[in-house]
Amino acid sequence: MQVTQLNGPQIISTGSATPQKSLHNEQIGEIVDTSDEWISTRTGIKSRKITDNKVGITSLAVEASNKAIEKAKIQPKDIDLIILATSSPDDLFGSASKIQYELKATKAAAFDITAACSGFVISLITAAQFIKSGTYKKILIIGADVLSKWVDWSDRRTCILFGDAAGAIIMESSNMDCILSSSIKTDGSQTDQLSLTANSTISNPALQLNHRYYNFIDMNGKEVYKFAVSKLPTAIADCIKNANLSIEKVNWLLLHQANERIINAVASKLLLPQEKVISNLSKYGNTSAASIPLALDEANQKGILKTGDIIIMAGFGAGFTWSVVLLKW
Ligand code: ACO
Repeated sequence: MQVTQLNGPQIISTGSATPQKSLHNEQIGEIVDTSDEWISTRTGIKSRKITDNKVGITSLAVEASNKAIEKAKIQPKDIDLIILATSSPDDLFGSASKIQYELKATKAAAFDITAACSGFVISLITAAQFIKSGTYKKILIIGADVLSKWVDWSDRRTCILFGDAAGAIIMESSNMDCILSSSIKTDGSQTDQLSLTANSTISNPALQLNHRYYNFIDMNGKEVYKFAVSKLPTAIADCIKNANLSIEKVNWLLLHQANERIINAVASKLLLPQEKVISNLSKYGNTSAASIPLALDEANQKGILKTGDIIIMAGFGAGFTWSVVLLKW
């Protein structure tokens, strides 16, 4: 008797959520010495969505997840595992558990992955391992960040870049493997180029006891730019080669939405025409771990992704980390 293997990861639905409030370039020009013209031409960003004071990633992640769950026509209790990619959790011990509780996904194990803007792709690759091993059948993967809360709003080099959002997908075990190839890379020697580091202060001088707090995002923009444009094309080309494909077979390039110039430079190095590039950062800015699932959900809702389409997804950012997955939709 032939046993059918059902350990192939498939993406069965997407969802996303963004805050109501928009912050346009012109408004940032009222608080720091910058302009819409400077920001638009250097980054491609026109506006971003910003959460209110008390709103963090949990509510955005729950909203995005509920949309994905509804579209997948499953119940929260069907989910075996929740992986949350975030670098701005509401709780430093992790926010995935709270999301599990709010979704009423009572059966699901849940944990956070911290890998800045590579977090979503790394989480997707991690989830696929659990499906391929037969450990889990239905996994909710979320990318959510509120980096607008972690920028110094008097630092024009960074405050222009970030927005808040969440995106989610449901991955299910099936008889087809949607992942054609993948890779995760790290260069820890570059950690200082982009960081959100902890600092400490003495709280009891007699006993030299201290407590920690976090600084704002610190970034060497030029180095991040150079890293992304040099490392991504090679990592993507390797993934295409490992899948025995050629670049002509690729239908969509979906990079982490950090900067339009980075996206265009990578596409041009890969000889991919502009019409194959998915980009929405003009409306949302850099939403870190949320940017890829947010753009994927928008593309999915527009109906432009066709069954069988080959999609390159690649995240990059602090660490430095970069990660690529080649998918069959
Ligand atoms: N408005 C006006 N002028 C500005 C601004 C601003 N917002 N920011 C910087 N400048 C000035 C600088 O002070 C500098 O002036 P000077 O020449 O008088 O000293 C000049 O503009 C050029 O500054 P650079 O930093 O060299 O500008 P650059 O062309 O590199 O553009 C940018 C900056 C847009 C940040 C670019 O480097 C970039 O996009 N890098 C990638 C950043 C990125 O993608 N980060 C996210 C990674 S994802 C993650 O993990 C979170």
